[in-house]
Amino acid sequence: NLVVHVTGARPNFPKAAPVIRALDALGLPQELIHTGQHYDDAMAKVFFRQLGLPKPDVDLGVGSGSHARQTAAIMTGLEELFLDRDPALVVVYGDVNSTVAAALVAAKLQIPLAHVEAGLRSFDRTMPEEVNRVVTDQLSDLLFTTSPDALVHLGHEGVPTDRVHFVGNPMIDTLLANLDRFDAERVTSELGITGDYAVATLHRPGNVDDPADAAELVKAVHAVADLVEIVLPLHPRGRARLEAAGLFTHERLKVVDPLGYVEFLALVRGARAVVTDSGGVQEETTILGVPCLTLRPNTERPVTITHGTNRLVTRPELSAVAAEVLAADRASTWPVPPLWDGHAGERIADVIAAFVGFAVPAG
Ligand code: UD1
Ligand code: UDP
Repeated sequence: NLVVHVTGARPNFPKAAPVIRALDALGLPQELIHTGQHYDDAMAKVFFRQLGLPKPDVDLGVGSGSHARQTAAIMTGLEELFLDRDPALVVVYGDVNSTVAAALVAAKLQIPLAHVEAGLRSFDRTMPEEVNRVVTDQLSDLLFTTSPDALVHLGHEGVPTDRVHFVGNPMIDTLLANLDRFDAERVTSELGITGDYAVATLHRPGNVDDPADAAELVKAVHAVADLVEIVLPLHPRGRARLEAAGLFTHERLKVVDPLGYVEFLALVRGARAVVTDSGGVQEETTILGVPCLTLRPNTERPVTITHGTNRLVTRPELSAVAAEVLAADRASTWPVPPLWDGHAGERIADVIAAFVGFAVPAG
């Protein structure tokens, strides 16, 4: 009955933690393989400490590289491990290169595959994540979805509906389980922030990889900093290019290293607004009721717009939209997407246990 989970990058950890915890509560044998796609303390290890994840049974230590090199290194490492472990099921999360690499290896070895966060679509194949999502879903035997639109997308792609399970959002399980730890005052006082502030995160290739995009982005973010102090925990990907584009020169823009999960969401919880190109942060702001301005032309998470606080904005329009949001009262109530209730991990664990034929001990 062995279930093997594969994680690789920062957004995988808050999705995997509740699934592993729920399977543990059922007593299912499981192992966690970390590919090492992300490896810095602030990008990976801090999540293991803060989210109560077990120490990985194996860390492949693949590190950074081009898409092909990184994906190939993960596949090579995983093939050997899967052959050795012979798992009943491999579980992958989200849309990063580690996700699709594990999916390909499992499929070729005819090991059943479960995809947590299946069916999200931006319909933008310039995003590497969209390619990873489409391929992983085609190869999966169990597809766990976070929002109703996912089933429609999977249906259009010919995925049999009996493989799809609408379970809610495990990333939100983690957020709700840790809500009491999100102490905005502690983090703002450590950062020396006194009044209103916004939080920003930026790492999408479409925003940070090209020098002209980076320059336009810096201009847009500086225009928001003219309105309100900003804390920007900066992902390593964009650092050099954004620095070259002058990011660090605005006195009300505090650029810091990536924050731990608890510190980051504490900061978001107390913020007047969030500016981001992250996937997960669009969801987290939706639950925390913090206005989210997403610097992207599209989103694979439309439920955060229809049911949440999210708005898509272009770089040129960012500061005007930010001014509007900052002038408005913060909402005291807001809708919550269906099943984002803190129990997705348990729902996933029940389906997995039945799938691998694990008889849950009575009582
Ligand atoms: C990856 C995911 C992206 C996700 C993001 C979350 C893919 C294709 N992309 O993008 O979907 O939103 O993670 O954060 O899988 N680096 C470090 N330290 C680390 C990790 C990375 O310095 O611990 C630097 C390296 O210079 C590396 C660059 O960041 O080349 C990019 O890392 P990589 O994992 O390839 O992609 P991300 O941009 O992080
Ligand atoms: N996050 C964090 N510290 C930071 C920035 C983000 O802990 O400094 C968390 C965030 O709360 C969310 C996850 O990292 O849980 C999202 O990861 P990221 O934005 O890197 O990836 P994406 O969701 O875009 O794939």
